[in-house]
Amino acid sequence: MAANSELFDRWVRGPFVEMNTELENLYFGQQDRSRVIGVGDAIKGRLRDGGQVHVVALLAEGNTGDGFESGFNVLGNVGMYLAALRRHELTNPAREERSPFAEASSLALHVGASLGMAPRFATSHLATHNKAVAGVRKSFTSLPDEFLFMDENTRGILGFQRAAEALTGIVHLGISSPVADVLFEAARQALRDVLASNERLYTQLDVARFFYSVRPYYKPYRVGRQEYRGANAGDFSGINEIDLLLGLCRANNPYYAQLLVDKMLFMLPSDQARLRDCMMRTSLLDELLALAAEHSPSDWFQRNAQAYLEVCDLFGQTAVQHHNTLVKRFIEEPAQHVKEDHLAGITASGPPLSVLLRALEVLRDLRTAADRNDIPTRHADLARLRSYVSRGAM
Ligand code: HEM
Repeated sequence: MAANSELFDRWVRGPFVEMNTELENLYFGQQDRSRVIGVGDAIKGRLRDGGQVHVVALLAEGNTGDGFESGFNVLGNVGMYLAALRRHELTNPAREERSPFAEASSLALHVGASLGMAPRFATSHLATHNKAVAGVRKSFTSLPDEFLFMDENTRGILGFQRAAEALTGIVHLGISSPVADVLFEAARQALRDVLASNERLYTQLDVARFFYSVRPYYKPYRVGRQEYRGANAGDFSGINEIDLLLGLCRANNPYYAQLLVDKMLFMLPSDQARLRDCMMRTSLLDELLALAAEHSPSDWFQRNAQAYLEVCDLFGQTAVQHHNTLVKRFIEEPAQHVKEDHLAGITASGPPLSVLLRALEVLRDLRTAADRNDIPTRHADLARLRSYVSRGAM
């Protein structure tokens, strides 16, 4: 007989997806697409009870020590189950002090703590570690827009990871190495790939379907007593490795350091280790600036500083694109047409939309080294480096 974890996985890939899709189609067919309570109650009951059987079996089995992959998979499945219960309003952290799903909470807490991750599904479950079976990825629904969103998110994450890997390679070679050219080009190409996958999301994702039928699965929910924020495409270390290696964000800035601490447990343990490692390195920008006065006329300095600036420029473009096109088109604009009482919990992290947008704006401006003096951007330092590059090229 198949193991309990395997049976749960089959249920999540089968009946769970069918029931969520049916419910989404019911909600979406209404005049008020935000209305969830009192709609499709019989299906919701089957979804709740169907998942509960598997959760109870796994809980009774205990931690069988099947290794990381198996535990990670169970965490993703119980997390997706709880996220769906939240999406269908069978639980809502605003009206409860603890999750009404005690067994699912216990299972998630047990597995999450043993893996060193938050006790909920994480981005990696649906992106970089979402194992396809005969071409089909794990998902909440079978809606084409959900697959488009997940696939392009994953491509974006993979692009940032390739860029981070290339920049890490430069750290090992040293910024004056002639071989850094290969790695700067790899980073540039990876960031161009991110720009392209973001552009596909922008042009192909249906705004209403994303807003009403995909995004709601990413809301915060309670596990046991505590509320955990939702997953978002940013929960991987690569983007922060780039921030830190380029030197556009600094781990000694309390705002940015807090952000890193907050997202740590939402990442895979291997990503947590990569991020910690990066936090202890000197950035490429600081290295270049320290060498500029003495070496700026050298060929290696001119070439590598120029390449560094091009990587910064492309990285800045991805940040502008995320905020000014994706967040604006798929979150900010549709939120303007939603009634006030449905607005709560629209974002994955939970704070009011205006607060979240300001926080994302800060990240965009750090990554573009914008000319702001209320946050510690590297605007002046990048200008100084540019002046060395243009002087040297004369
Ligand atoms: C429809 C497309 C997308 C939308 C609407 C969107 C929206 C958002 C929102 C609203 C947040 C804040 C977290 C929250 O919801 O509470 C966020 C965070 C984030 N997203 Fe996206 N996102 C999209 C696609 C992507 C893609 C493809 C990537 C690339 C991997 C990405 C990378 C990030 C990162 C790194 C963060 C964390 C904050 C940061 O470091 O900038 N997003 N996103």
